[in-house]
Order: sequence, then C-alpha cells, then structure tokens
Amino acid sequence: MPTALVTGITGQDGSYLAEFLLGKGYEVIGLVRRTSRLTYDRIQHLVDRIELVQADLHDLGSLMDVLNKYAPDEIYNLAAQSFVPASWSQPILTGEVNALGVVRMLEAMRLVRPQARFYQASSSEMFGKVREVPQKETTPFYPRSPYAVAKVYGHWITVNYRESYNLFAVSGILFNHESPRRGLEFVTRKVTNGVAKIKLGLADELRLGNLEAKRDWGYTGDYVRAMWLMLQQDEPEDFVIGTGETHSVRELCEVAFSHVGLDYRDYVKQDPRFFRPAEVDILVADASKAREKLGWEPRVTFEELIHMMVDADLERLERKYKQ
Ligand code: NAP
Ligand code: GDD
Repeated sequence: MPTALVTGITGQDGSYLAEFLLGKGYEVIGLVRRTSRLTYDRIQHLVDRIELVQADLHDLGSLMDVLNKYAPDEIYNLAAQSFVPASWSQPILTGEVNALGVVRMLEAMRLVRPQARFYQASSSEMFGKVREVPQKETTPFYPRSPYAVAKVYGHWITVNYRESYNLFAVSGILFNHESPRRGLEFVTRKVTNGVAKIKLGLADELRLGNLEAKRDWGYTGDYVRAMWLMLQQDEPEDFVIGTGETHSVRELCEVAFSHVGLDYRDYVKQDPRFFRPAEVDILVADASKAREKLGWEPRVTFEELIHMMVDADLERLERKYKQ
C-alpha cells in the first residue's frame, strides 16, 4: 500500500485529494498545524481512515520528523496562505509559508526521503498581468500580488531542486478550482452562498468587487486527479491544468442567480472594499500538454459547477435554519 503525505489536508484541495487517494488504496497521512480549535470540518467524514500528524511549514524539524516517521512515497504540498487579498495585509507571513515553506518541505525531503515524489501547488496567479492568452507552461510569469510573488518562488525552487538534486519534484500550475467546500471568502462561494441566502430570505443584497475580472474556473474533484497523474509519470515535469474556458465574475453572477430564478442586477452591488490594489484581469488555460501526456480532461462544466455549489449552499442553509 503506497503512502502519501498531504500538507494542507484541512483545506478544500486537501479534502478532495485525500478522498481520491483513499479510493486508489493509499495510506494517507495528513499534515495539520496546531491551532487552538480543530479545523477538520472538510475532512470530518475521513478522519477514521487517515492519519493526522501535527507539523508546520514554518518549522523544518517538524517536517523532517514526519518524513522520518511515515516514509511517504508521495508528498503533496498543498498548504499555503491561499487568499490573495490577505497577501497584501500579511505579505511577510504569505512569503514565509508560500515561498520559504516550500523550500523547507523540499529540504526535509532531500535530507530524509529523497526517493519520494513531490507535488507543489503552483498557481495561475503567477501569470498575473498576462503575457499571452491562453497561458501555458512556457508563458512568462508576471505576478501581481504578494501571494503570486511567493508562489513564483515556490514554483522555481521546485524546478531548482529537481535539476540540482535529481529529485522527482513537479509543479502543477492550477487555474482556479472550486467546489461546495471552497472557502466562503473566494468569489464563487461568496456568490453561491449569497444567492442561497437571498433565495431563502436571509439577505437582500450581495456586495462584490470587480465584476469584469475573468477566470478559468473548474471543479476541484477533477483537479486532484491531475495532481496524482503528475506523480505517476516516468519523468518529472510541470503541467498547466485548467478548462480552457474563461468567464467574468458578472457571468458567474448571472449563472448563479438565474439558477434560482433571480436576476443578479437586482441584488449585486459593487463595493470598493473588495477591489484589489493590483488585479489579474484575465486567466485562461491552454492545458493541451496535460491532455496529451496525462490524458487529463475536466469532466464538470462551468455551469454544472456553479449549479452544484448553489444547490449545496441552499441545502446547507435550509438544514441549518429549519432546526
Ligand atoms: P485552502 O482551502 O485555503 O487550504 C489551505 C491549507 O493550508 C489549509 O489546510 C491550511 O490549514 C493549510 N496551512 C496554511 N498555513 C499553514 C502552515 N503554516 N502550516 C501547515 N499548514 C498550513 O486552499 P486550497 O484552495 O485547498 O488550495 C490548496 C493549495 O493550492 C494552496 O497552496 C493554494 O495556494 C493552491 N492553489 C489553489 C487554487 C484554487 O483555485 N483552489 C489554484 C491554484 C493553486 P488550516 O485549515 O489550519 O488553515
Ligand atoms: N474574493 C473575492 N471577493 N473576489 C472578488 C470579489 C469579492 O467580493 N469581487 C470580485 N472578485 C474578483 C477578484 O478581484 C478576482 O479577480 C476574482 O474575483 C477571483 O477572486 P478569488 O475567488 O478570490 O480568487 P483568486 O483568483 O484571487 O485566487 C484563487 O485562485 C488562484 C488561482 O488562480 C485562489 O484560490 C488562489 O489561492 C489560487 O492560486
């Protein structure tokens, strides 16, 4: 039975990846940081089937101990400060975790478990002020936030450890991916949760920032499959993962509100508080390399994804307020 270590297991991607790996017969070790309250809501249904171990990306010794104890075959480094706006208010913390945290994990692997395979959660945010449309593996980076700058470091240090130490270390450059487990502050979930609240009479407006920004939004369940496929290849290589379709935040609102028979123009208000100091205007993936080499294709469409998220929020809120 192969063993996989997943950092960020309590996050959106970690929970889907853990489910996926269990389905493939892996023993799953989840790395969690010490907090004063448990944050296991996304993995509550899995806690009896996985092993959780405390460590922190700030602390090299804790990472080395985990690798020593569990000797994983695969390491998925998903842990990060993942909310872009928070990276302007906490740029140093973001750099510590999203940049230096990656090299700590790689150092731990180089010193303790060099035969393991390593996946780094790189991001389409690295393309930032895009140099070409669509974006592929060779598109130059132009990061537009402290988050994205830190992710560029994480990306290149992964390439560098592969080339310097001959480690099997790869980066997945993933475009935005969403699900009913997405954090409430990210725009898709903010919209689907807002739609559900308005539909149920729990709110009467939804305040958003830039409605013209465009993103390539896919379903997380599809994207964790790509992470795993990258570690099953003969040679370590980086891959862009996305749907190849782009939609504006305005279109997202149209699809989400009309799913419950409402017109978004009656409820959505633009609020300067949610604009960013520097915006990423358009992201859209050219994932042809992943299609050809990994045989990867997304299965859930944009409309299906947004409908799934609205339905899940409606169901959750109905349950909560009926009691
Ligand atoms: P998420 O839901 O915010 O989860 C982040 C995870 O990182 C949580 O488990 C969090 O733990 C953990 N974490 C944060 N700081 C840590 C530290 N110092 N030590 C150990 N763990 C720490 O993010 P996600 O959407 O699942 O994204 C997963 C990864 O993919 C991130 O690296 C993100 O930047 C990257 N990414 C995401 C997308 C996307 O669209 N979702 C696209 C491209 C790349 P707590 O639960 O304790 O907070
Ligand atoms: N969060 C948020 N809230 N975003 C808004 C809002 C709002 O009220 N109104 C408009 N937006 C716009 C943002 O300005 C941005 O252009 C877009 O919606 C998407 O914002 P987020 O959902 O916060 O995601 P992100 O694209 O900044 O970052 C996510 O995707 C990256 C991959 O490209 C995160 O998951 C990152 O961790 C990930 O790397």
